[in-house]
Amino acid sequence: MADLIVGIQWGDEGKGKIVDVLAKDYDYIVRYQGGHNAGHTIVVGDTKYALHLIPSGIITPNCLNIIGNGVVIEPSALIEEMRQFGGEQALLGRLFISDRAHIILPFHQKVDSSLESTNAIGTTKKGIGPCYTDKIARIGLRACDVRNFPAQRQAITARLSERVQSLIESGVLDSSVEELVQASLESLESAHKILSPFITDTTALLWEAQEQGKKILLEGAQGSMLDIDHGTYPFVTSSTTIAAGSCAGSGLAPRDITSVLGIMKAYCTRVGHGPFPTEDCGEYGRILRDKGVEFGTTTGRERRCGSFDALAARYACKLNGCDKIALMKLDVLDGFETIAVCVAYQYQGRKIEYVPSDLENATPMYEILPGWAGEMSKGVKSYDALPENAKAYIARLEELVGVKIALISTGAERSEIIYR
Ligand code: IMP
Repeated sequence: MADLIVGIQWGDEGKGKIVDVLAKDYDYIVRYQGGHNAGHTIVVGDTKYALHLIPSGIITPNCLNIIGNGVVIEPSALIEEMRQFGGEQALLGRLFISDRAHIILPFHQKVDSSLESTNAIGTTKKGIGPCYTDKIARIGLRACDVRNFPAQRQAITARLSERVQSLIESGVLDSSVEELVQASLESLESAHKILSPFITDTTALLWEAQEQGKKILLEGAQGSMLDIDHGTYPFVTSSTTIAAGSCAGSGLAPRDITSVLGIMKAYCTRVGHGPFPTEDCGEYGRILRDKGVEFGTTTGRERRCGSFDALAARYACKLNGCDKIALMKLDVLDGFETIAVCVAYQYQGRKIEYVPSDLENATPMYEILPGWAGEMSKGVKSYDALPENAKAYIARLEELVGVKIALISTGAERSEIIYR
């Protein structure tokens, strides 16, 4: 049995904080898609952790952490992140990397940057899309190849040369084949030395954990609106970010998923390009960005900010089959006299209440709710102690989205949370 946490907006909903809060109740925390494009900031006391690839359970002693087969791994980013937690020796036996996970090589990052310069999606330029491209094209390298690197060096060199040559010939890359292949070989070599002890069959490990009755939490990265199929294509990431991706990316079966907790902010943000109907480029958006510290953990980019989009959230909850929701950053809405919520779109001359495939052609229609200016939700730890209008806001979101809001976050600290 496994529980699942997914982002139901455009990422950066605060999944890391919720995983961190819940981790003490689990034996295993599993990342199942994405790569170091993800960024989870977790605050514990005076310490702030920035996680990209390592599951958020690493901060909780006794939690075992799995990087599943659906994740794409850039070895040097992972090794660097492992240092935050004491490096290899400290993590052996606490961190496991799927031998089926694909590896991001230096040329993938160059391809990402090159494609961005001609056809901008606003990616993180971490090589995520190009690595998944090679995975789907069946020419990628996996963690099992890292583990066997010395024995396979010759064959891998030939494969890489062929791939890089074709990227140069098609005009995507302009360095020399030798230089690009050499950089990849160096990355693989150091990955082999440092990561080999962590690389294992995590699917089998999870099945064994299940047989032993261990508790498993699957941790999604990015958000549903960035899903490769259901998001705002082509302005999406290259993996299945919705609940369905958790099985493909971990080796668990659909019937093993017991509950799905959707994470959403009390307003909306997005990084990168692409449709974002409720984006506010004026004062309201600026205040949300400043109060909510809406700057990317991975790239430092300013996040685009705007009102809560109930249609996008309802759509995402359907896609994920959310049982419950955690509402994040309610405190950022403290101080506003009124708060707008998008409840419909104007689309092709009529009012609609669903998310169309060409969301860029939809204009939001708002309902204005009273704020709770003069009162505070910041740091409140019980539902009853929330301002009445904050409770009314939560109730209205619940009604619009159709799922119970079971957790409410009122600050960055672990303790600033309400269980309902
Ligand atoms: P990529 O995942 O780097 O290919 O970027 C594709 C899109 O997903 C871009 O709009 C990125 O800004 C966005 N993105 C990727 N990872 C995250 C994340 O963890 N949070 C929010 N947006 C993300």
